[in-house]
Formats: sequence, structure tokens, C-alpha cells
Amino acid sequence: MKSPIEVFSDWAISGKDDGMRNNHFKPVMKMIELFEDKYKNPCIIDAGCGNGWLVRHLDKKRKYKKITGVDGSKSMIAKAKNLDPKNNYICSELDLWKPDDKVDVVISMEVMYYFKKPEEIIKHIYNNWIKKNGVFIMGIDFYLENKKCHDWKEKTGVDTMQLFSSEIWINFFEKSGFKNVNKYFFNVGQEWKGTLVVKGFKF
Ligand SMILES: C[S@@+](CC[C@H](N)C(=O)[O-])C[C@H]1O[C@@H](n2cnc3c(N)ncnc32)[C@H](O)[C@@H]1O
Repeated sequence: MKSPIEVFSDWAISGKDDGMRNNHFKPVMKMIELFEDKYKNPCIIDAGCGNGWLVRHLDKKRKYKKITGVDGSKSMIAKAKNLDPKNNYICSELDLWKPDDKVDVVISMEVMYYFKKPEEIIKHIYNNWIKKNGVFIMGIDFYLENKKCHDWKEKTGVDTMQLFSSEIWINFFEKSGFKNVNKYFFNVGQEWKGTLVVKGFKF
């Protein structure tokens, strides 16, 4: 078993990271719809940006004042910077980093369950990353109701993957201070419960 950052660094080196854009694209587009019309020229952070595909996708829209991708894997960030010299990519563990200026939107796809205590990283994002009236939108495929994912820990060899119900994820958001917390299930399939998306505002 390896840490999440070690496993994803291996993926960046072997090229396996390329599949993440394909697998995550559809639900992430729906996640963008949840905030896009609400903010004019927002600043946005992609928490656990991997190779930066979402940062580059958002950049093409020319709607954002500043787009920052943060990831703990050196090889993911090296790849992102190589593909995109324009935007901001930072290599750091999310719980050890704070932006200089808080942002309107934090988006994160398939990252939050790689923390031993996800409630602490959610609280850290609430306290240190998001402006008043800002929003956090989190997407995850690995959660209790989505039985298809239950063998992923064994399959990927990642040592830390926390399996919680959607209600517990909602509770983490509410306990951190987020208001108007809602959940969505995007891209539902026959045996696939869909990507669990949790959205919460900081007022
Ligand atoms: C499944 S990938 C998702 C990447 C990207 N969000 C996407 O949709 O393609 C998870 C990412 O989270 C990063 N990660 C995991 N734990 C982390 C931590 N503690 N701090 C920073 N990044 C972390 C990994 O390096 C990896 O790039």
C-alpha cells in the first residue's frame, strides 16, 4: 500500500493520469453549472488538480480572473506546468497550504476522501481559502451508497481512502460552517449511483 500522493505520482509518470479527464469530465461539467452563472470573473482554486486538465478547461472560457491548481504530487504539477505555463500550479499538500488571497470558488474532484480526517481539510478550506459569499463544490465517486467503488482501495493500493455515506459528507460541510449545503448525484448509471456532489456556501 502507498500514500495517495505516491500512487498518483506513479500514475503521472506512467501516463495513467490521462484517463482521469475522461472519467471525470461529465460530472465536473455539471459541477461547473452549479456556480458559473452566480459569479462574475471569479477567482477559483482546483483542490487536488492532478495534471491540471480542469484548470486548462476553465481557462478556455476566459471568464475567470485567476485560476489556481494545487496538488501534492510533484509529477502531476510538473506535467500541468509543462502543458500550461500561463496559469498557477502549486505543489503542496492541501492541508499545509493557504492562498495569499481568498477566492470565490473552490472546486475539487475525487480528492477529499484521500484524507484521514476529511472534516479537517473541509474546515481548513472554509477558514482559509474561501471568501465571504464564496462556494465549495466537491465531487466524489468513492462513497458508501456507491457499491461499485467499494473495492477501489484494494484495486489501487492506496493506503488512505475514507468510505462515508453522503449524509456524513453533508455533515462534514455543515460542521465546518458551510450554509445552504446541498447534495447532487451526477452521471447516474445502472449500477453506478453517480458522482456525489456536495455544495456549500460561506456567508
Ligand atoms: C483521483 S486524482 C484527481 C485529480 C483531478 N482532480 C482530476 O479530476 O483529474 C486525486 C489527486 O489528489 C491528489 N492528492 C491526494 N492527496 C492529496 C493531499 N493530501 N494534498 C494534495 N493533493 C493530494 C493526488 O496527487 C491526485 O492528483
